[in-house]
Amino acid sequence: MNLSRPDSMASFWMPFTNNRDFKANPRLLVSAEGMYYKDVDGNSILDGTAGLWCVPCGHAQPRIVAAVREMVGQLDFAPTFQMGHPAAFELADRLMAYTNHRFGHVFYTNSGSEAVDTALKMALAYHRARGEAGRTRLIGRERGYHGVGFGGISVGGIAGNRKPYGVMLPGVDHLPHTHNLEKNAYTRGEPEHGFELADELERIVTLHDASTIAAVIVEPVAGSTGVLVPPKGYLKRLRELCTRHGILLIFDEVITGFGRLATPFAADYFDVEPDLMTTAKGLTNGTIPMGAVFSKQHIHDAFMDAPPGIELFHGYTYSGHPIACAAALATLEVFKEQDILGHAAGMVEYWTDAVHSLKGLPHVIDIRTIGLVAGIELAPIAGKPGTRAFAAFKQAFADGVLIRVTGDIIALSPPLVLEKKHVDELFGKLATILNNLD
Ligand SMILES: Cc1ncc(COP(=O)(O)O)c(C=O)c1O
Repeated sequence: MNLSRPDSMASFWMPFTNNRDFKANPRLLVSAEGMYYKDVDGNSILDGTAGLWCVPCGHAQPRIVAAVREMVGQLDFAPTFQMGHPAAFELADRLMAYTNHRFGHVFYTNSGSEAVDTALKMALAYHRARGEAGRTRLIGRERGYHGVGFGGISVGGIAGNRKPYGVMLPGVDHLPHTHNLEKNAYTRGEPEHGFELADELERIVTLHDASTIAAVIVEPVAGSTGVLVPPKGYLKRLRELCTRHGILLIFDEVITGFGRLATPFAADYFDVEPDLMTTAKGLTNGTIPMGAVFSKQHIHDAFMDAPPGIELFHGYTYSGHPIACAAALATLEVFKEQDILGHAAGMVEYWTDAVHSLKGLPHVIDIRTIGLVAGIELAPIAGKPGTRAFAAFKQAFADGVLIRVTGDIIALSPPLVLEKKHVDELFGKLATILNNLD
């Protein structure tokens, strides 16, 4: 294993990275355990973001590492097209149990982006299977992030992810985002104002007619755009309207799934039932790429009523990869044995108090929290949006804490196994950084 600096960094075209800036001043991680990374110089870096929201059980979790090691020696690859392997079926059953059997079936992908595109295709094909082939429109939301596939960026609402890529999918419309700094700043949990924004779906239905709309997709808590928590009652209202108009509701739970709000899914937290749910990240504790679409029984039934043959012409070479299944099975065991959700629930208050203690520090204009998530919004430097938070990110790395920034918002989402001492270290260092930031 190479733990030293690479000879050259030129060839790797890095994703979502300012490549020139990074390569001039790289940040290189070489190992990880529990709550900490180690960088190439041997410094410990506290993980305030669970990697990219994807390591709920902490790094190098021994049980997951062992399961991956065992499976790679036993079954390195097996197709799941017209054949299968036991772990894929076992995992599907366990995942359904993890949802309390509120979902009936699961379709495997390799990432959140693929899960999103899969769910959108399922929604279109579902309506067609039921004789409503005219339902082809997809409704997303401004500031939404649904990965980087063409389906995901089409329903997504982050301008930078869309601008370079032309017209994208036709027939897509967007709900307004729910962020309201004036009315909702410094809210703990769900904001009071903005419930009525769900009614914008009525306007969209009036414009296009319900008979043309297949699905609405939203993140229950928008993450990548900078932690936008839904206003009280908003998601329930969206559910009501979708049901009224025969529109499927898709929750993109790629970051909220597997405990981020100290419940199995955000659907549990908000007590709202989507028809389809996309997941990834925490599903395998980030160890091996895997995504999954959870489907309600009635969606699956519509496909199984079709004439004999392949019911859904869709899938990936690595759908249900044995090593990913082994990692996911071990992750579920760790969730149960270590009561990860119970531990997370026990940390929420301490976490929330610590985040909100940053109120009043220089540049801070809003703090939003829910579960073990926090968004800290900074005032932008005039004419240079994003540069202030990016400077905070670089300083934090140098000071031994990993934070994530999007625009001028710091987004925090630690491994769910964190303890009070980690919260103290994270916010102690962050306070110093904010106090000294230009
Ligand atoms: C809500 C949501 N959907 C989809 C994705 C895309 O997942 P991936 O990067 O695994 O393709 C992300 C990634 O952060 C996400 O936050």
